[in-house]
Amino acid sequence: MPPTATDNLAVLGAQWGDEGKGKIVDLLSPAFAVVARSQGGHNAGHTVIVDGDEFILHLIPSGILHPGVTCVIGNGVVVDPAALFAEIDQLQSRGIDTGGRLLVSSRAHVILPYHRDLEAASEDRLGAQRIGTTSRGIGPSYEHKAARCGVRIGDLADARPGGRLAAQIESNVTARNRAVTGPALDWRQVLEEAARVWERLQPMVADTSRYLNDALDARRPVLFEGAQGTMLDIDHGTYPYVTSSNATIGGVCTGLGVGPRVIDGVLGIVKAYTTRVGEGPFPTELDEPQAERLRAWGREYGASTGRPRRCGWFDAVGVRYAVRVNGMTALAMTKLDVLDNLDELRICTGYRCGGEMLTDPPATIGELASCEPVYETMPGWSGSGRTAGARDERDLPAAARAYLERLEELSGAPVAIISTGSDRGDTIVRRDSPAARWLGSCAPADERDR
Ligand code: IMP
Repeated sequence: MPPTATDNLAVLGAQWGDEGKGKIVDLLSPAFAVVARSQGGHNAGHTVIVDGDEFILHLIPSGILHPGVTCVIGNGVVVDPAALFAEIDQLQSRGIDTGGRLLVSSRAHVILPYHRDLEAASEDRLGAQRIGTTSRGIGPSYEHKAARCGVRIGDLADARPGGRLAAQIESNVTARNRAVTGPALDWRQVLEEAARVWERLQPMVADTSRYLNDALDARRPVLFEGAQGTMLDIDHGTYPYVTSSNATIGGVCTGLGVGPRVIDGVLGIVKAYTTRVGEGPFPTELDEPQAERLRAWGREYGASTGRPRRCGWFDAVGVRYAVRVNGMTALAMTKLDVLDNLDELRICTGYRCGGEMLTDPPATIGELASCEPVYETMPGWSGSGRTAGARDERDLPAAARAYLERLEELSGAPVAIISTGSDRGDTIVRRDSPAARWLGSCAPADERDR
């Protein structure tokens, strides 16, 4: 029987998303009874590789690959039912049964076809200022939530003509038809589809806040799985080039209906370098062809959209900020192996902005865009060994250990987990780290068996 965690843990991105949260959540999941997603939607792409088999999860928490784990899609998530059903079907076809252990909040907002149309129109309108969204209808669904004209999962139960849902959909589709050029959408068809969705969805729908609080009261440990990352957070990220939800720690409480005191640890996921998809400032971005080398080595293409990711050096200013904003108690460092071929590495330790040295990201993108990164250079380990596939810290080249140590110092949080490859087993869990108290029972299966 896998060991049980004694604490509840939030796992959040500390950069611009794509830090490798999927692998880490999958790795830790066996120690938890429940894995819960609190925000975002199927804009996320969490990749998990098990014995060479790749699973990409967009909406369903990455804990689903473990049969004993119940997965929760919380009220803060925006749910595209078609995407959810496609993901369930994919998993079922590969032998992963989600039946009875996937719950969807009745308070979560629904992404309907008009949200995607509104997003496409908005991105077109913005032209050169476009956000570079994932085109999944995420933003407009959150817009409707804030404008109090959204449709929630529980509303789908009553698709009667003349009912409340029918009136809301008619009103939203009418507004969409006014805002979008091209063929009009028929609200009756959207309503009929909503009724069909409910039939399949109903068995999964629950008061997930109640479910989670009951689980927490019964001391069944919960892992809170974040999506996107701190720099994409609507409040704390590089606004307006952000997603539409709170990817930072507060989003866990509002997006799941749990109190802050149940969160015992906050694990920040960071890549050993930085990537970003979509538009917006990125101080440590590398020019081509240097970026292309990292992109190729790290297979840096969006798991949701396939877009090439922009690549750059590790930005300690951003990560230190993420540690502070989220109260991160430890970090998991992923993709260290991608740096194996470099002779020299750079770390951004500050920004030079208008004659000033900044150690925190400025609030406006105007200022951020004018920031010059200040770098510290460290030797690489291409001539002295490799980190790829290492499962014991002692097998890391000395220069790789020095790099990690410096990143810890600059970020202000200890590195508890080091990922050295895409497979579950290519992982080092540092037992002597200050995070060992809550991580001790969460070692990967092969480490536990040793
Ligand atoms: P949206 O979330 O589709 O509205 O996109 C807003 C911004 O967030 C765009 O720059 C996207 O590329 C980015 N984004 C959204 N989800 C993810 C993710 O899971 N990983 C990385 N970037 C993301």
